[in-house]
Amino acid sequence: MAFELEKTKKIIERDAEVYPGFARMPYYPLAVARGHGAILEDFDGNEFIDLLSSASALNTGHAHPRIVNAIKEQAEKYITYTAAYMYSEPLVKYAEALIGVTPGDYEKKVAYGNCGSDANDGAIKLARAYTGRKKIVSFIGAYHGSTYGALSLSAISLNMRRKIGPLLGEIEHIEYPDCYRCRYGKEPASCGLECLGALKKAMTTYMPPEDIAAVIIEPIQGDGGLIVPPNRYMKALFEMCREHGILFVSEEVQQGFGRTGKWFGIEHFDVVPDMLILGKSIGSGVPLSAIVGRKEIMDSMDAPAHLFTMSGNAMACAAAHETLEVIKDEKLIEKSANLGDYAKERFQALMEEYEIIGDVRGLGLSIGVDLVKDRKGKEGNREAAAKICYRCWEKGVIIIFLGDGVLRFQPPLVITREEIDKAIDVIEESMKEYMAGDIPDEILETAKGW
Ligand SMILES: Cc1ncc(COP(=O)(O)O)c(C=O)c1O
Repeated sequence: MAFELEKTKKIIERDAEVYPGFARMPYYPLAVARGHGAILEDFDGNEFIDLLSSASALNTGHAHPRIVNAIKEQAEKYITYTAAYMYSEPLVKYAEALIGVTPGDYEKKVAYGNCGSDANDGAIKLARAYTGRKKIVSFIGAYHGSTYGALSLSAISLNMRRKIGPLLGEIEHIEYPDCYRCRYGKEPASCGLECLGALKKAMTTYMPPEDIAAVIIEPIQGDGGLIVPPNRYMKALFEMCREHGILFVSEEVQQGFGRTGKWFGIEHFDVVPDMLILGKSIGSGVPLSAIVGRKEIMDSMDAPAHLFTMSGNAMACAAAHETLEVIKDEKLIEKSANLGDYAKERFQALMEEYEIIGDVRGLGLSIGVDLVKDRKGKEGNREAAAKICYRCWEKGVIIIFLGDGVLRFQPPLVITREEIDKAIDVIEESMKEYMAGDIPDEILETAKGW
């Protein structure tokens, strides 16, 4: 290892004494001391290009001066006062702005929470209350969060579900459309949306469609391996929902707010959701979540069905409002689209050269680089991914992997082209070192991942 890690190691030793293991999936020893733009610095003064954005929660980058100022200004006035009993101007101002950028030419309202997980719980409640139906359809491979509702929707890790049941009932998981590993052996030209067949079959055999309140879908399945569904699939699913009075809910916690080169991931598909679930990047790192939905859905529950003391926290709403303005003023959505295309081209060029890359996919700056044991079998190469991510960290690039070996490329949208070039050069070097057998097995002890 080329750099000092003395101070970082001390933090990690202290951490082991007080922080439980269930709350972290480690990749390498990084403790952030400061950050600006797309650059992070650890406690020993080592610098890194950030390709993770704190799990896609910092689309505007680290410590954006305008957002820092907005937080300071609001904090100096008052940090928050609960909207459960009183009224709040920052909450209203942000809701108005948010409604202005969300898809759907209909009247909307905004509910707030503190994290993506609670927004998923809220969406389940609203869907059930509005429709009077109980069942919710979600997807295998999805991660929606850690509260009971959100984890009941999730189907990505047995450890999330072990020991703690019973979970929320009446949730039906179906397969997410995965064209790279199509279970039906189809190519785009021969695809007849066979993967939607299970839901169709369910609706005619054991799950009456009139019992289904909502389908909750990520526009790109994030933690499941950055899987992009075909446009036709989303449209067909949406039409099935419309036909049976089922709400179509886009879960944008990870893919929203410019990440995919549009405000919301679902805008890449020709459908208009009934509700959006938002979190992570909306507050640029200040905890905030939101559900934006049709007015009539949002008016379907009675107080106090879904509120938190900190819902719509004034400081978080000020940060979120400035985040929205920064995204507009700095044209971060266009930037995400353009830099995303550029990065994808660079990864595709690497794919031509290195057999280990089986697939490159994504929208905007939400890109997955799927590492495989061999291109024919397409089995994920977890060991390669773990070693390459670890070596990248040693060389000053922060990237993690998802699933069985998908490199997660989700830098802050403020990243420069030069930083992208430098980071992809490091990924290539690390890949070569992996293939030459130069990355020791010991690192697998640390790089555990999902
Ligand atoms: C798609 C998606 N939904 C929900 C969540 C949960 O958000 P939070 O951790 O803020 O509760 C995550 C977090 O990774 C996510 O990726």
